[in-house]
Amino acid sequence: MKIAMIGAGYVGLVSGACLSDFGHDIVCVDTSAEKIAGLNVGRLPIYEPGLEALITQNVAAGHLSFTTDLAAAMDGADAIFIAVGTPSRRGDGHADLTYVYAAARDIARALTGPAVICTKSTVPVGTNREVGRIIAETNPQADFDIASNPEFLREGAAIGDFMRPDRVVVGAESDRARRVMADIYRPLSLRDTPILYTGLESAEMIKYAANAFLATKITFINEIAALCEKVGADVKEVANGMGRDGRIGSKFLHAGPGYGGSCFPKDTRALARIGQEHSSPMAITETVIAVNEAVKRRMVEKIRDLLGGSFNGRRVAVLGVTFKPETDDMREAPSLTVVPALVGGGAEVRVADPLGRREGAELLPGVSWHDDAYDAAQGADAVVVLTEWNAFRALDLTQLASVMRTPAMADLRNVYSPDSLKAAGFRSVGVGRFH
Ligand code: NAD
Ligand code: UGA
Repeated sequence: MKIAMIGAGYVGLVSGACLSDFGHDIVCVDTSAEKIAGLNVGRLPIYEPGLEALITQNVAAGHLSFTTDLAAAMDGADAIFIAVGTPSRRGDGHADLTYVYAAARDIARALTGPAVICTKSTVPVGTNREVGRIIAETNPQADFDIASNPEFLREGAAIGDFMRPDRVVVGAESDRARRVMADIYRPLSLRDTPILYTGLESAEMIKYAANAFLATKITFINEIAALCEKVGADVKEVANGMGRDGRIGSKFLHAGPGYGGSCFPKDTRALARIGQEHSSPMAITETVIAVNEAVKRRMVEKIRDLLGGSFNGRRVAVLGVTFKPETDDMREAPSLTVVPALVGGGAEVRVADPLGRREGAELLPGVSWHDDAYDAAQGADAVVVLTEWNAFRALDLTQLASVMRTPAMADLRNVYSPDSLKAAGFRSVGVGRFH
């Protein structure tokens, strides 16, 4: 199959690289000439474990290339994937579809042969039908079918998620679209991955419902964590006991500083808006959004309490600022709430993060950047574990305590046992458990 992938961001690059690894010929297109020039000399715009090697291998094999020239990329393509961003629209929280519709118009103008136009971006119900309308209006001669193929990969684990998904969802209305999509995903169906064929609207809903459900699960355990602190329960024991029930499941029950990232925050907001527009309120999702904001603010108060009621003049080491480990992505990270509150309250903030500095330097003004946890903790009054990078999971607590002014830790990912912290001389707080 020959496929054009429009958008060379997290999803476009990972999908393009993985599909080329299946043996398809993929051309990734992006409007950013800088991104494409970098990719053409092997420089990736993002960090994702394993991606660089997969790209290098498939470029060398002649299955993967990068261009800004949409028409050239689409020449002879059996399928054209739209994987451009759908950020929150300023003001109302709805998904901003400007990039999707611009891509649809560009595709329509460049379309010559028959092709399936497939949206991979996360888009509200009705968008795929509108993409079809725009293409038919812009190019009445166009011979095309529409498909919706939402993506469920996680950053930091994206290649494994794409190569071994729980399921692939394909929304389509014609046999031709279903046939082309079946050919594209044949390497996965041969490995018994279920390919679920649905209508366009169902495929669009599945993606929002899945993300909102996962965000709800995290927020539920975060709320339970707050109650655990009041009643003397340990949220790790509670989550373990709940998660062993197969109907609940143990994944996404880790209490923490609130969910962040490029998708849960924006997709929950978009789903809430879709509900409002259709007079079918998403009351649970709206509550999840509000509670998640409160969870992030609660973390600030935890750190303030640990420091005796004020940030002023205190030196705080923050370990991890990306929204999760194994990514350089800072979009809607809890650090964007916590760190400015520390700085604004008069603390001197020293940050260590394996990859966060590139974006963080601009997003978190007024902090200093350090190579590792021990360096960041020099002379500190408290250490805050905000992202559970491996580098922060097995620190030598005695050594860490020895470089600090007063050993104190806010372990907002519950990485360390209260006993091990106590043994190393730390005063500490976690999330949802007594220290
Ligand atoms: P991103 O911002 O990293 O990348 C989008 C890319 O599209 C950018 O490089 C941009 O320059 C390019 N672009 C915009 N308009 C274009 C056009 N007309 N032609 C060519 N290129 C264009 O975004 P992302 O994180 O990859 O997300 C893309 C979509 O996938 C979103 O809808 C998102 O919700 C969804 N999604 C993301 C993830 C994730 O983990 N990031 C996972 C599942 C789904
Ligand atoms: C999430 C979904 O997991 C993917 O299935 C989906 O494709 C993607 O959004 C998307 O639509 O973009 P991602 O945001 O990359 O993936 O990362 P997650 O691992 O889901 O983590 C999201 C946030 O939740 C992080 O801030 C993480 O720290 C937090 N989280 C996750 C918890 O606090 N507790 C958990 O148990 C799990």
